[in-house]
Amino acid sequence: MSSAAQKEISQIGGGQVGLSNFYLPEALTGTAKDIDGLFGMIVWIALVMFILVEALLVIFLIRYKRKHPDKHGKAIDGNTKAEVIWTLIPALILVFIGIYSTSMVYTIQEPPENVYEIKVTGMKWAWEFEYPNGAKSFNDLRIPEGENVLFKIYSKDVIHSFWIPEFRIKQDAVPGRETRFWVNADQLSGGENKYEKRVICAEYCGNQHSLMLADLQIMPAKEFTAWVDAELTRPKTDAQYVVQANGCTSCHTIDGGKSAGPTWKGLFGKKQIVNGQEVTVDEKYLEEAIVQPDAKTPEGYSTGMMPAFQMEPEAIKNVVEYIKSLQ
Ligand code: CUA
Repeated sequence: MSSAAQKEISQIGGGQVGLSNFYLPEALTGTAKDIDGLFGMIVWIALVMFILVEALLVIFLIRYKRKHPDKHGKAIDGNTKAEVIWTLIPALILVFIGIYSTSMVYTIQEPPENVYEIKVTGMKWAWEFEYPNGAKSFNDLRIPEGENVLFKIYSKDVIHSFWIPEFRIKQDAVPGRETRFWVNADQLSGGENKYEKRVICAEYCGNQHSLMLADLQIMPAKEFTAWVDAELTRPKTDAQYVVQANGCTSCHTIDGGKSAGPTWKGLFGKKQIVNGQEVTVDEKYLEEAIVQPDAKTPEGYSTGMMPAFQMEPEAIKNVVEYIKSLQ
């Protein structure tokens, strides 16, 4: 592999990867390292078996080649000893792998005492994280370094899947029930603690599934505490907060770029065709479009794309002001 390609791969997780860990992103938790160990073990067992079986196949092909086309070979009726051996060995290997991996599943789900709980909620199409003090963040997961953190996972609508490759765990977020796993994470060996878009939705959940991503930051405990305390006092109707919380920019760009929905840049004051009539985008139009998007879909865009948002009037006003400011 060229060094450029190698460098590119090693940047996927921001950390060190190589053949020693099958080019997977860096494992950031003890569990992730155990899972890699299990994965490596299964790969080696399979590789040894594969080479053994293929080598025997080639040897037998050559050694027992048909030498006399007019004669039949000896009829063999079975060999109890050989059959017991080739059934028992794979069975024992599978039972061993089964017990080992099942115990790992229990370890992942049963947190130690004094665990720090974070509520994770998947929704179309954003991730919400709620911390024990009541602070919430959207598409921005932060956890303290070297502490036991339990994720309690929920969904507001359909099945999503909470996946962080560096933790080697992918857990479904299922409406109406709680799923969970816990981690104790270190920072990347590079020393950087922020990885963009490292939280991934791994279950197809609709149009914007591929954009259902969140950043991950593993922060020194002190910095984390300061952040989570500050986050609690941030006003919840603040436009930036509301836009982030509702994932508006998954479909609306703010710089004139193309996306699933109309860009917000220059949208205010623009004339567009809605239900066959020319409409000027003003405060009233925007307020209605947020609450009942399908009734206000402009020509060129399809209905059913944007969910009807329920927000406090104050929050809606702030978002409209924000759109207005993007000229
Ligand atoms: Cu949420 Cu895919």
